[in-house]
Amino acid sequence: MQTGRCEAGVTGYPRNMTETQQTDIHVGLTDQVTNLPAHASIPPTPLIRLADGRLIPQIGLGVLRIQQPTTIEQAIEAGYRHIDTAAGYNNEQIVGQALESTGFASGEKRSHMWITTKVKDTEQGFDSVLRACDRQLRLLRTDYVDMYMIHWPTPFKWRSDQTWKAFRRLQGEGLVRSLGVCNFLPEHLQRLHDETGQWPVVDQIELHPTFQQRSVVEFCRQHGIAVEAYEPLARTADLHAGNGLIDRIAAAHHVSCAQVILRWHCENGTIIIPKSVHLARQIENATLSGFHLSAQEHAAIDALDTSHRVGHDPMTFSYA
Ligand SMILES: NC(=O)c1ccc[n+]([C@@H]2O[C@H](COP(=O)([O-])OP(=O)(O)OC[C@H]3O[C@@H](n4cnc5c(N)ncnc54)[C@H](OP(=O)(O)O)[C@@H]3O)[C@@H](O)[C@H]2O)c1
Repeated sequence: MQTGRCEAGVTGYPRNMTETQQTDIHVGLTDQVTNLPAHASIPPTPLIRLADGRLIPQIGLGVLRIQQPTTIEQAIEAGYRHIDTAAGYNNEQIVGQALESTGFASGEKRSHMWITTKVKDTEQGFDSVLRACDRQLRLLRTDYVDMYMIHWPTPFKWRSDQTWKAFRRLQGEGLVRSLGVCNFLPEHLQRLHDETGQWPVVDQIELHPTFQQRSVVEFCRQHGIAVEAYEPLARTADLHAGNGLIDRIAAAHHVSCAQVILRWHCENGTIIIPKSVHLARQIENATLSGFHLSAQEHAAIDALDTSHRVGHDPMTFSYA
């Protein structure tokens, strides 16, 4: 299944390497973007090169259900340089407040922050996306977003072709940089490609040890689409998966269960956006260096796969 790299030119946390080798790569990569302040509490975040050539920090902060700007500010102060929001989360305004108060909304510091947002399902379509983006940029208090995504494919009301035309227009105007999708299954990716001639550079999907979506991951790898895991911890449901398997691996490495799962994702070349409102957990979730999983540990976690999703079914769901 997911081997250490994806075809998009993934670097990120490597698999099957010695710690010395990992440290070398780690430092070399992160020099390019993160520029951490002296008081940073998380180690430099590895970068993943996307098919459009841009570099995305492999670990970001998911902000679904976060409603206080201070929760985001503390993560940025700790060293997070990647924030994942959406129009549908109704919190772009507080993300904008946090970006502004930390100085990352504009100027030289803006180039050291990756901001992803997503278009609402109800705003898909050409003109409506242009209007939506204008509003979202104002809420986020920034001149551009690093990645703009289609939130759900809504195949029962398909408008991704028109939405994509608007995405290209916005990209041409410099208002959005990388173009991505969420929750797209191979048939949706193929349809988008058939209609627009393009693949998104990222597909953000539900992905965790008990729901690995191997056919989607494999399709993405074949077409240079980087995979981003949402609900990377299955909203905590996977922390003790496998009758204590994750706990045993965590104990062997003297790390937490969350760190085992997140390191597994990263060694698979996956981008992750775990959410926590707690600073200690935000730091824990982005502190994944200093240990690596063996091939046997990878195989054991791979074997936890089921067809049980925690979130919604992209064939039938519409978010807002
Ligand atoms: N594109 C989509 O359709 C879609 C759908 C869902 C989510 N997302 C994105 O993915 C992000 C992450 O997904 P998610 O928030 O649903 O799930 P998640 O990151 O898998 O899990 C979040 C839950 O885990 C807890 N947690 C976090 N770190 C922990 C740790 N180290 N130890 C123990 N518990 C920990 C959090 O609690 P505390 O906050 O109390 O720490 C929260 O209850 C979202 O914020 C959003 O940005 C995208």
